[in-house]
Amino acid sequence: MKNRYIPIITISVVLALVAAVGFLIPPAVQDAPTRVVLDNSGGRVIFNHLTHVDDYGLECSDCHHDDIGQDTPIACGNCHPAAFDKKFKAEHMKNFKSDEACLRCHDEKPTGPLSEEDRPDIESIPTRSEAFHKQCMSCHEDMGGPYGEDSCYECHAR
Ligand code: HEC
Ligand code: HEC
Ligand code: HEC
Ligand code: HEC
Ligand code: HEC
Repeated sequence: MKNRYIPIITISVVLALVAAVGFLIPPAVQDAPTRVVLDNSGGRVIFNHLTHVDDYGLECSDCHHDDIGQDTPIACGNCHPAAFDKKFKAEHMKNFKSDEACLRCHDEKPTGPLSEEDRPDIESIPTRSEAFHKQCMSCHEDMGGPYGEDSCYECHAR
Protein backbone atom coordinates (compact mmCIF):
# COMPACT_ATOMS: atom_id res chain seq x y z
CA MET A 1 0.00 0.00 0.00
CA LYS A 2 2.74 2.46 1.01
CA ASN A 3 4.82 1.51 -2.05
CA ARG A 4 2.05 2.52 -4.45
CA TYR A 5 2.46 6.15 -3.40
CA ILE A 6 6.23 6.33 -3.71
CA PRO A 7 6.36 7.13 -7.47
CA ILE A 8 3.66 9.79 -7.09
CA ILE A 9 5.38 11.36 -4.12
CA THR A 10 8.73 11.26 -5.92
CA ILE A 11 7.28 12.91 -9.00
CA SER A 12 5.50 15.55 -6.91
CA VAL A 13 8.68 16.37 -5.04
CA VAL A 14 10.67 16.64 -8.27
CA LEU A 15 8.03 18.91 -9.83
CA ALA A 16 7.91 21.08 -6.73
CA LEU A 17 11.71 21.40 -6.81
CA VAL A 18 11.71 22.29 -10.51
CA ALA A 19 9.06 24.94 -9.88
CA ALA A 20 10.96 26.35 -6.90
CA VAL A 21 14.24 26.52 -8.82
CA GLY A 22 12.51 28.14 -11.82
CA PHE A 23 11.04 30.71 -9.48
CA LEU A 24 14.35 31.48 -7.78
CA ILE A 25 16.55 31.86 -10.88
CA PRO A 26 15.60 35.10 -12.67
CA PRO A 27 15.20 34.97 -16.46
CA ALA A 28 18.32 35.96 -18.43
CA VAL A 29 18.67 39.74 -18.29
CA GLN A 30 17.28 41.07 -21.55
CA ASP A 31 18.57 44.57 -21.79
CA ALA A 32 18.07 44.91 -25.53
CA PRO A 33 14.42 44.76 -26.68
CA THR A 34 13.53 42.41 -29.54
CA ARG A 35 11.23 44.84 -31.30
CA VAL A 36 10.28 48.46 -30.68
CA VAL A 37 6.93 49.81 -31.86
CA LEU A 38 7.05 53.51 -32.68
CA ASP A 39 3.61 55.00 -33.19
CA ASN A 40 3.46 58.33 -35.02
CA SER A 41 1.50 60.42 -37.51
CA GLY A 42 3.38 58.91 -40.48
CA GLY A 43 2.14 55.40 -39.61
CA ARG A 44 3.38 52.90 -37.06
CA VAL A 45 7.00 51.75 -37.42
CA ILE A 46 8.01 48.33 -36.13
CA PHE A 47 11.74 48.45 -35.57
CA ASN A 48 13.49 45.07 -35.45
CA HIS A 49 15.92 45.96 -32.70
CA LEU A 50 17.49 42.56 -32.10
CA THR A 51 17.89 41.87 -35.84
CA HIS A 52 19.86 45.09 -36.12
CA VAL A 53 22.12 44.05 -33.25
CA ASP A 54 22.55 40.32 -33.98
CA ASP A 55 22.25 40.01 -37.77
CA TYR A 56 23.62 43.35 -38.95
CA GLY A 57 26.50 43.28 -36.46
CA LEU A 58 25.97 46.77 -35.04
CA GLU A 59 27.24 48.05 -31.69
CA CYS A 60 24.91 49.61 -29.12
CA SER A 61 26.86 52.85 -29.52
CA ASP A 62 26.19 52.94 -33.26
CA CYS A 63 22.72 54.19 -32.29
CA HIS A 64 22.69 54.99 -28.56
CA HIS A 65 24.99 57.87 -27.60
CA ASP A 66 27.06 56.17 -24.91
CA ASP A 67 28.32 59.14 -22.93
CA ILE A 68 25.41 59.71 -20.58
CA GLY A 69 26.69 57.79 -17.55
CA GLN A 70 24.06 55.03 -17.53
CA ASP A 71 24.50 51.26 -17.85
CA THR A 72 21.40 50.74 -19.97
CA PRO A 73 20.41 52.88 -22.94
CA ILE A 74 17.29 55.01 -22.52
CA ALA A 75 14.56 55.99 -24.98
CA CYS A 76 15.60 58.63 -27.53
CA GLY A 77 12.53 60.74 -26.79
CA ASN A 78 13.90 61.65 -23.35
CA CYS A 79 16.24 64.02 -25.18
CA HIS A 80 14.60 64.28 -28.58
CA PRO A 81 11.03 65.32 -27.78
CA ALA A 82 8.47 66.31 -30.39
CA ALA A 83 9.11 69.89 -29.21
CA PHE A 84 11.16 71.68 -26.55
CA ASP A 85 7.99 73.11 -25.06
CA LYS A 86 6.71 73.87 -21.56
CA LYS A 87 5.99 70.22 -20.86
CA PHE A 88 9.53 69.18 -21.75
CA LYS A 89 10.95 71.99 -19.63
CA ALA A 90 8.94 70.95 -16.62
CA GLU A 91 9.38 67.18 -16.84
CA HIS A 92 12.69 66.27 -18.47
CA MET A 93 14.78 66.31 -15.29
CA LYS A 94 13.01 63.16 -14.08
CA ASN A 95 14.14 61.14 -17.08
CA PHE A 96 17.78 60.73 -16.19
CA LYS A 97 19.47 58.70 -13.47
CA SER A 98 22.88 60.30 -13.75
CA ASP A 99 24.08 63.90 -13.71
CA GLU A 100 26.32 63.07 -16.63
CA ALA A 101 23.22 62.94 -18.83
CA CYS A 102 22.47 66.58 -17.95
CA LEU A 103 25.90 67.54 -19.31
CA ARG A 104 24.88 66.29 -22.75
CA CYS A 105 22.86 69.53 -23.01
CA HIS A 106 23.85 71.76 -20.08
CA ASP A 107 27.31 73.07 -19.18
CA GLU A 108 26.73 72.01 -15.57
CA LYS A 109 23.86 70.38 -13.73
CA PRO A 110 21.26 73.12 -13.40
CA THR A 111 19.18 73.41 -10.25
CA GLY A 112 16.75 76.17 -11.11
CA PRO A 113 15.51 78.49 -13.86
CA LEU A 114 18.19 79.24 -16.40
CA SER A 115 19.58 82.60 -17.44
CA GLU A 116 19.49 83.44 -21.13
CA GLU A 117 23.13 82.45 -21.74
CA ASP A 118 22.85 79.15 -19.85
CA ARG A 119 20.13 77.77 -22.09
CA PRO A 120 21.02 74.82 -24.31
CA ASP A 121 21.29 75.52 -28.00
CA ILE A 122 18.16 73.67 -29.03
CA GLU A 123 18.81 74.39 -32.71
CA SER A 124 21.53 71.73 -32.59
CA ILE A 125 19.39 69.06 -30.86
CA PRO A 126 17.16 67.25 -33.36
CA THR A 127 13.50 66.79 -32.44
CA ARG A 128 12.04 63.31 -32.27
CA SER A 129 11.23 62.46 -35.87
CA GLU A 130 14.32 64.32 -37.15
CA ALA A 131 16.48 62.26 -34.79
CA PHE A 132 14.96 58.97 -35.96
CA HIS A 133 14.86 59.78 -39.68
CA LYS A 134 18.39 61.13 -39.60
CA GLN A 135 19.86 58.18 -37.73
CA CYS A 136 17.91 55.37 -39.43
CA MET A 137 18.31 56.68 -42.95
CA SER A 138 21.90 57.91 -42.87
CA CYS A 139 23.07 54.48 -41.78
CA HIS A 140 20.90 52.76 -44.39
CA GLU A 141 22.39 54.97 -47.07
CA ASP A 142 25.84 53.65 -46.05
CA MET A 143 25.05 50.02 -45.18
CA GLY A 144 21.81 49.11 -46.96
CA GLY A 145 18.27 49.28 -45.61
CA PRO A 146 15.41 51.61 -46.55
CA TYR A 147 16.09 55.32 -47.20
CA GLY A 148 15.04 58.02 -49.64
CA GLU A 149 11.80 59.33 -51.11
CA ASP A 150 10.25 56.00 -52.14
CA SER A 151 11.13 54.12 -48.97
CA CYS A 152 8.44 55.43 -46.62
CA TYR A 153 6.32 52.28 -46.50
CA GLU A 154 9.28 50.00 -45.96
CA CYS A 155 9.26 51.37 -42.41
CA HIS A 156 5.80 52.89 -41.92
CA ALA A 157 2.62 50.82 -41.91
CA ARG A 158 0.11 52.20 -44.42
C1 HEC B 1 20.29 50.27 -35.13
C2 HEC B 1 20.20 51.10 -33.95
C3 HEC B 1 20.27 50.45 -32.59
C4 HEC B 1 21.22 49.57 -32.11
C5 HEC B 1 22.42 49.00 -32.81
C6 HEC B 1 20.85 49.32 -30.73
N1 HEC B 1 19.71 50.02 -30.40
FE1 HEC B 1 18.69 49.95 -28.65
N2 HEC B 1 17.20 51.09 -29.44
C7 HEC B 1 17.25 51.70 -30.67
C8 HEC B 1 16.03 52.47 -30.86
C9 HEC B 1 15.70 53.29 -32.09
C10 HEC B 1 15.26 52.29 -29.70
C11 HEC B 1 13.90 52.88 -29.40
C12 HEC B 1 14.09 54.10 -28.57
C13 HEC B 1 12.84 54.86 -28.29
O1 HEC B 1 11.76 54.24 -28.19
O2 HEC B 1 12.93 56.07 -28.14
C14 HEC B 1 16.04 51.42 -28.81
C15 HEC B 1 15.64 51.04 -27.54
C16 HEC B 1 16.45 50.39 -26.63
C17 HEC B 1 16.10 50.15 -25.25
C18 HEC B 1 14.79 50.55 -24.57
C19 HEC B 1 14.94 51.96 -24.05
C20 HEC B 1 13.70 52.44 -23.34
O3 HEC B 1 13.81 52.80 -22.17
O4 HEC B 1 12.64 52.47 -23.98
C21 HEC B 1 17.16 49.50 -24.67
C22 HEC B 1 17.28 49.04 -23.22
C23 HEC B 1 18.15 49.31 -25.71
N3 HEC B 1 17.69 49.86 -26.89
C24 HEC B 1 19.37 48.70 -25.51
C25 HEC B 1 20.29 48.44 -26.52
C26 HEC B 1 21.51 47.66 -26.32
C27 HEC B 1 21.97 47.07 -25.00
C28 HEC B 1 22.13 47.60 -27.55
C29 HEC B 1 23.41 46.88 -27.93
C30 HEC B 1 23.43 45.47 -27.63
C31 HEC B 1 21.30 48.33 -28.51
N4 HEC B 1 20.21 48.82 -27.84
C32 HEC B 1 21.57 48.50 -29.86
C33 HEC B 1 18.26 51.60 -31.59
C34 HEC B 1 19.34 50.73 -31.51
C1 HEC C 1 20.79 61.99 -22.97
C2 HEC C 1 20.20 62.65 -24.10
C3 HEC C 1 20.12 61.95 -25.44
C4 HEC C 1 19.60 60.71 -25.73
C5 HEC C 1 19.02 59.68 -24.77
C6 HEC C 1 19.65 60.55 -27.17
N1 HEC C 1 20.20 61.68 -27.71
FE1 HEC C 1 20.55 62.01 -29.70
N2 HEC C 1 21.43 63.80 -29.26
C7 HEC C 1 21.44 64.40 -28.02
C8 HEC C 1 22.01 65.74 -28.13
C9 HEC C 1 22.19 66.73 -27.00
C10 HEC C 1 22.34 65.94 -29.50
C11 HEC C 1 22.93 67.21 -30.13
C12 HEC C 1 24.28 67.09 -30.68
C13 HEC C 1 25.24 66.43 -29.72
O1 HEC C 1 25.43 66.91 -28.60
O2 HEC C 1 25.80 65.40 -30.10
C14 HEC C 1 21.96 64.69 -30.17
C15 HEC C 1 22.14 64.46 -31.51
C16 HEC C 1 21.55 63.44 -32.23
C17 HEC C 1 21.59 63.31 -33.67
C18 HEC C 1 22.26 64.28 -34.64
C19 HEC C 1 23.72 64.15 -34.60
C20 HEC C 1 24.19 62.89 -35.23
O3 HEC C 1 24.82 62.05 -34.54
O4 HEC C 1 23.91 62.72 -36.43
C21 HEC C 1 20.87 62.19 -33.98
C22 HEC C 1 20.60 61.65 -35.36
C23 HEC C 1 20.42 61.60 -32.72
N3 HEC C 1 20.87 62.37 -31.68
C24 HEC C 1 19.66 60.47 -32.62
C25 HEC C 1 19.34 59.83 -31.41
C26 HEC C 1 18.65 58.55 -31.33
C27 HEC C 1 18.10 57.78 -32.51
C28 HEC C 1 18.58 58.24 -30.00
C29 HEC C 1 18.05 56.97 -29.37
C30 HEC C 1 18.58 55.74 -29.92
C31 HEC C 1 19.18 59.34 -29.25
N4 HEC C 1 19.64 60.26 -30.16
C32 HEC C 1 19.25 59.43 -27.88
C33 HEC C 1 21.00 63.84 -26.84
C34 HEC C 1 20.48 62.57 -26.70
C1 HEC D 1 18.31 66.86 -24.34
C2 HEC D 1 18.90 67.96 -23.66
C3 HEC D 1 18.72 68.10 -22.18
C4 HEC D 1 19.11 67.26 -21.18
C5 HEC D 1 19.79 65.91 -21.35
C6 HEC D 1 18.80 67.90 -19.94
N1 HEC D 1 18.22 69.12 -20.19
FE1 HEC D 1 17.57 70.47 -18.82
N2 HEC D 1 16.90 71.70 -20.32
C7 HEC D 1 17.00 71.44 -21.66
C8 HEC D 1 16.28 72.48 -22.40
C9 HEC D 1 16.14 72.55 -23.93
C10 HEC D 1 15.76 73.38 -21.45
C11 HEC D 1 14.93 74.64 -21.71
C12 HEC D 1 15.83 75.80 -21.97
C13 HEC D 1 15.05 77.09 -22.24
O1 HEC D 1 14.36 77.54 -21.31
O2 HEC D 1 15.14 77.60 -23.33
C14 HEC D 1 16.19 72.87 -20.13
C15 HEC D 1 15.90 73.49 -18.93
C16 HEC D 1 16.28 73.01 -17.70
C17 HEC D 1 16.03 73.69 -16.43
C18 HEC D 1 15.32 75.02 -16.25
C19 HEC D 1 13.84 74.80 -16.20
C20 HEC D 1 13.08 76.10 -16.11
O3 HEC D 1 11.91 76.05 -15.72
O4 HEC D 1 13.63 77.15 -16.44
C21 HEC D 1 16.53 72.90 -15.44
C22 HEC D 1 16.51 73.16 -13.95
C23 HEC D 1 17.12 71.73 -16.10
N3 HEC D 1 16.95 71.83 -17.46
C24 HEC D 1 17.73 70.70 -15.42
C25 HEC D 1 18.23 69.55 -16.02
C26 HEC D 1 18.80 68.45 -15.26
C27 HEC D 1 18.94 68.41 -13.75
C28 HEC D 1 19.18 67.50 -16.18
C29 HEC D 1 19.78 66.15 -15.92
C30 HEC D 1 19.16 65.35 -14.90
C31 HEC D 1 18.83 68.02 -17.50
N4 HEC D 1 18.26 69.25 -17.35
C32 HEC D 1 19.05 67.36 -18.69
C33 HEC D 1 17.64 70.36 -22.23
C34 HEC D 1 18.15 69.27 -21.55
C1 HEC E 1 23.92 51.90 -37.74
C2 HEC E 1 23.19 51.40 -38.88
C3 HEC E 1 21.68 51.31 -38.87
C4 HEC E 1 20.78 52.13 -38.20
C5 HEC E 1 21.08 53.32 -37.33
C6 HEC E 1 19.48 51.64 -38.54
N1 HEC E 1 19.56 50.59 -39.39
FE1 HEC E 1 17.95 49.60 -40.23
N2 HEC E 1 19.25 48.41 -41.24
C7 HEC E 1 20.62 48.45 -41.16
C8 HEC E 1 21.18 47.39 -41.98
C9 HEC E 1 22.67 47.06 -42.17
C10 HEC E 1 20.08 46.72 -42.58
C11 HEC E 1 20.13 45.50 -43.52
C12 HEC E 1 20.28 45.97 -44.93
C13 HEC E 1 20.28 44.84 -45.92
O1 HEC E 1 20.04 43.69 -45.54
O2 HEC E 1 20.49 45.16 -47.09
C14 HEC E 1 18.87 47.40 -42.10
C15 HEC E 1 17.59 47.05 -42.47
C16 HEC E 1 16.43 47.66 -42.03
C17 HEC E 1 15.08 47.31 -42.47
C18 HEC E 1 14.67 46.19 -43.44
C19 HEC E 1 14.92 44.82 -42.85
C20 HEC E 1 14.46 44.65 -41.44
O3 HEC E 1 15.30 44.29 -40.58
O4 HEC E 1 13.29 44.93 -41.12
C21 HEC E 1 14.22 48.14 -41.80
C22 HEC E 1 12.70 48.18 -41.89
C23 HEC E 1 15.03 49.01 -40.95
N3 HEC E 1 16.36 48.69 -41.14
C24 HEC E 1 14.51 49.96 -40.08
C25 HEC E 1 15.28 50.80 -39.30
C26 HEC E 1 14.75 51.85 -38.44
C27 HEC E 1 13.28 52.14 -38.24
C28 HEC E 1 15.82 52.47 -37.89
C29 HEC E 1 15.83 53.64 -36.94
C30 HEC E 1 15.04 53.50 -35.73
C31 HEC E 1 17.02 51.82 -38.38
N4 HEC E 1 16.66 50.81 -39.22
C32 HEC E 1 18.32 52.21 -38.04
C33 HEC E 1 21.38 49.32 -40.43
C34 HEC E 1 20.89 50.34 -39.62
C1 HEC F 1 14.13 53.75 -41.94
C2 HEC F 1 12.76 53.82 -41.55
C3 HEC F 1 11.94 55.01 -41.99
C4 HEC F 1 11.77 55.47 -43.27
C5 HEC F 1 12.36 54.93 -44.55
C6 HEC F 1 10.87 56.60 -43.18
N1 HEC F 1 10.52 56.81 -41.88
FE1 HEC F 1 9.25 58.25 -41.19
N2 HEC F 1 9.68 57.72 -39.28
C7 HEC F 1 10.46 56.64 -38.91
C8 HEC F 1 10.59 56.62 -37.47
C9 HEC F 1 11.35 55.61 -36.66
C10 HEC F 1 9.83 57.73 -36.99
C11 HEC F 1 9.67 58.22 -35.55
C12 HEC F 1 8.61 57.49 -34.85
C13 HEC F 1 8.32 58.14 -33.51
O1 HEC F 1 8.28 59.38 -33.42
O2 HEC F 1 8.12 57.40 -32.57
C14 HEC F 1 9.25 58.38 -38.15
C15 HEC F 1 8.39 59.49 -38.10
C16 HEC F 1 7.71 59.99 -39.19
C17 HEC F 1 6.63 60.95 -39.12
C18 HEC F 1 6.04 61.54 -37.85
C19 HEC F 1 6.53 62.91 -37.59
C20 HEC F 1 5.91 63.44 -36.34
O3 HEC F 1 6.44 64.44 -35.84
O4 HEC F 1 4.96 62.85 -35.82
C21 HEC F 1 6.23 61.20 -40.41
C22 HEC F 1 5.12 62.12 -40.86
C23 HEC F 1 7.09 60.41 -41.28
N3 HEC F 1 7.97 59.67 -40.51
C24 HEC F 1 7.03 60.39 -42.65
C25 HEC F 1 7.88 59.69 -43.49
C26 HEC F 1 7.92 59.82 -44.94
C27 HEC F 1 7.01 60.74 -45.75
C28 HEC F 1 8.88 58.96 -45.38
C29 HEC F 1 9.35 58.73 -46.81
C30 HEC F 1 9.86 59.89 -47.50
C31 HEC F 1 9.45 58.29 -44.22
N4 HEC F 1 8.82 58.77 -43.11
C32 HEC F 1 10.43 57.33 -44.26
C33 HEC F 1 11.08 55.74 -39.76
C34 HEC F 1 11.16 55.86 -41.12
